[in-house]
Amino acid sequence: MRKKFICKGLLSSTILLNAFTVCAVTAPAAEMPNLAPKDIVIKRGMSEEAAKCIECHANKTPGIIASWKQGKMGHANITCYDCHVVEKTSPMASQCSGIKGTNTYISPMVSSKTCERCHPAEVEQFLKSGHANLSGAPVVEKEKFLKLMYQHEGGGFMGNEMGSPSNRAPRASGCQICHGTQVELGPDNKPIKETWPGGVGTRYPDGSVGNCTVCHTRHQFSIAEVRKPEACASCHLGPDHPDIEIYLESKHGQIFQTRGEEWNWDAAPDTWQPGDYSAPTCAVCHMSGIGELSTTHNVNERLKWDLVHPRSELRSGVRGDGEKGDMLMRKVCANCHGTTHTDVQMQTLDNVVELYNKYYDKATDMQKALEAKGLLGKDPWQDGFQELYYFLWHHTGRRARQGAAMNGPDYAHWHGFFQMQQVYKDMVALYDWRMKNNKIEELSHVMSTAPD
Ligand code: HEC
Ligand code: HEC
Ligand code: HEC
Ligand code: HEC
Ligand code: HEC
Ligand code: HEC
Ligand code: HEC
Ligand code: HEC
Repeated sequence: MRKKFICKGLLSSTILLNAFTVCAVTAPAAEMPNLAPKDIVIKRGMSEEAAKCIECHANKTPGIIASWKQGKMGHANITCYDCHVVEKTSPMASQCSGIKGTNTYISPMVSSKTCERCHPAEVEQFLKSGHANLSGAPVVEKEKFLKLMYQHEGGGFMGNEMGSPSNRAPRASGCQICHGTQVELGPDNKPIKETWPGGVGTRYPDGSVGNCTVCHTRHQFSIAEVRKPEACASCHLGPDHPDIEIYLESKHGQIFQTRGEEWNWDAAPDTWQPGDYSAPTCAVCHMSGIGELSTTHNVNERLKWDLVHPRSELRSGVRGDGEKGDMLMRKVCANCHGTTHTDVQMQTLDNVVELYNKYYDKATDMQKALEAKGLLGKDPWQDGFQELYYFLWHHTGRRARQGAAMNGPDYAHWHGFFQMQQVYKDMVALYDWRMKNNKIEELSHVMSTAPD
């Protein structure tokens, strides 16, 4: 249980957040009634203005102060002022009730650009990764997905007014929370149309990109937290990319679940090594420094294949460098496994990718042949063949590929290849029927229920 620090020589109604004052450690709260007062007086080396933000917010938003004061940045004098104060001319400038009438302007929106002032390397790496621009792109730019969100999911097809609040609801409650969207502002420079807060690739009104709090939750911004698989699980889950499920079912996940509580999560960056933990978490393989590798915020760096798009290709261009990625990922494994073991895993993944691509290519041939004969329905979400085509790559095919990549045999097999062959055979049946009868069957045989 956490102990409370109450400082001597002060009114008993005051907790002083001062590392340089002699503090007495009192008994844990369970043994003593919680007499902790709400007032906080700051006397360490920070500006008077910065101290004011904290003193007032300790009363008005005590939950924020509670987590901020436990974080390393709270200890190092990085305050509300450092992250939230903006120039008066910023498109995001506004004032909270506590600073109305002063010359200080703030914004509740804080992007990677603010962090960049003090963490330039992390932000540079992050901006090169799929978590930045590529992540926001489907929700902001890509016609196909805008149509999915507004015309289909938002009920545009049944006459729900485009752009209306309920039409925006699927984006605001779903895609945006993981991917991020473009934040739009009203006349008071505050976000409108439920475009904020958002996911990892959020695009801010000043042109900056990226929300670091999706992993380092505010206001503690802890590295111990992001090293745990839960930090990724809020987005990397579900029928289409069940990474947390795969992980928890892998041997690595088994060890994490049985022994993780004994691990040392708090070592300094690049010093967190096998021994602090006995099996890798998501962070260990994709981000943390290990052995000769340094920490990276570019999650694409250690990847060989693209296992997310319809056809799996060696990564290149904005998606990374597949050959280099393969070499780096093998260096991760080398800390705990011999090369024979790692070679087998990587060969298996290559073979899985090859087989998956065969399914996908043959399915694509059928799709093209039907299209050439005008035998595809106009609404792809109400056309048996096209729905199955989607489930083949987006659900079952990703599960097979990612299950194999991260050693989750249940996902590689039962939720993966087993269902792929079923989906594929149903596609063949529909294809043959349409070709033979030269028409589209009248009712969808799929009824949009995804294979689970
Ligand atoms: C290290 C930078 C940092 C510090 C220090 C910091 N914040 Fe934040 N704060 C953020 C980030 C990042 C967000 C999320 C912004 C986003 O999603 O665009 C945020 C969001 C917020 C929000 C809006 C979200 C909500 O839950 O309402 C408030 C209010 C807020 N902070 C208040 C404070 C106060 C008060 C302090 C001082 C104790 C503080 N912050 C210190 C970075 C910081
Ligand atoms: C005298 C009290 C007081 C002071 C001083 C104060 N605040 Fe606030 N602040 C509030 C209250 C109350 C709210 C919630 C109501 C509102 O948004 O005005 C708030 C809201 C906020 C928000 C969220 C705004 C939003 O649009 O949701 C942020 C961010 C924030 N304050 C940061 C700061 C920073 C940074 C400072 C110091 C420069 C500061 N505050 C100083 C009382 C104060
Ligand atoms: C004004 C400078 C400054 C700004 C702005 C700043 N940081 Fe920091 N940050 C620091 C310092 C200094 C430390 C080291 C604190 C220590 O360990 O004593 C730190 C440490 C960290 C850590 C490591 C915490 C741990 O548990 O070891 C994280 C994560 C972090 N910052 C994230 C962020 C994010 C995200 C933002 C933007 C929202 C941000 N920082 C903005 C100065 C800053
Ligand atoms: C807020 C949601 C969110 C969180 C939290 C999150 N991710 Fe992601 N991640 C995404 C999205 C969205 C993408 C897709 C990016 C794109 O469009 O290419 C992605 C892509 C990736 C990729 C593939 C990159 C690419 O471009 O193909 C890896 C690897 C990855 N994430 C690892 C992680 C790890 C490891 C963690 C935890 C430490 C994590 N992610 C936390 C949302 C998230
Ligand atoms: C639960 C969080 C979550 C939600 C909700 C979500 N996604 Fe994703 N999405 C992800 C993650 C994580 C990935 C990366 C998976 C991987 O790399 O294997 C991803 C990948 C993608 C990709 C492929 C990457 C790329 O840049 O081409 C697209 C496109 C996409 N999502 C679009 C959407 C759209 C559109 C919506 C809403 C209709 C949506 N997503 C809803 C988390 C989510
Ligand atoms: C996908 C999840 C994720 C996102 C998003 C993320 N971080 Fe991190 N961050 C991590 C992990 C994991 C570590 C710990 C690496 C290790 O084990 O040392 C870390 C560590 C850090 C550290 C400690 C020093 C270091 O480099 O290891 C800082 C500072 C930091 N992050 C800043 C940021 C900033 C700034 C952003 C936004 C641009 C950001 N992080 C976004 C996962 C994330
Ligand atoms: C033992 C190391 C390891 C662990 C632990 C691990 N991964 Fe992976 N991950 C991999 C490998 C290897 C690949 C495939 C790399 C390649 O493409 O060759 C991969 C692929 C991925 C991809 C697919 C990228 C794409 O779009 O092509 C995502 C997303 C991902 N991992 C996220 C996660 C998340 C989230 C966790 C934790 C829940 C996690 N990983 C745990 C090693 C690991
Ligand atoms: C921090 C150490 C560590 C790292 C790094 C690591 N592993 Fe493991 N791995 C283990 C441990 C421990 C086991 C459990 C061995 C057992 O079942 O007795 C394991 C088990 C496995 C298994 C299950 C089969 C078996 O031998 O039991 C596979 C497959 C595997 N790892 C692949 C990988 C791959 C591929 C990488 C790199 C992408 C990797 N591991 C990285 C520690 C690690």
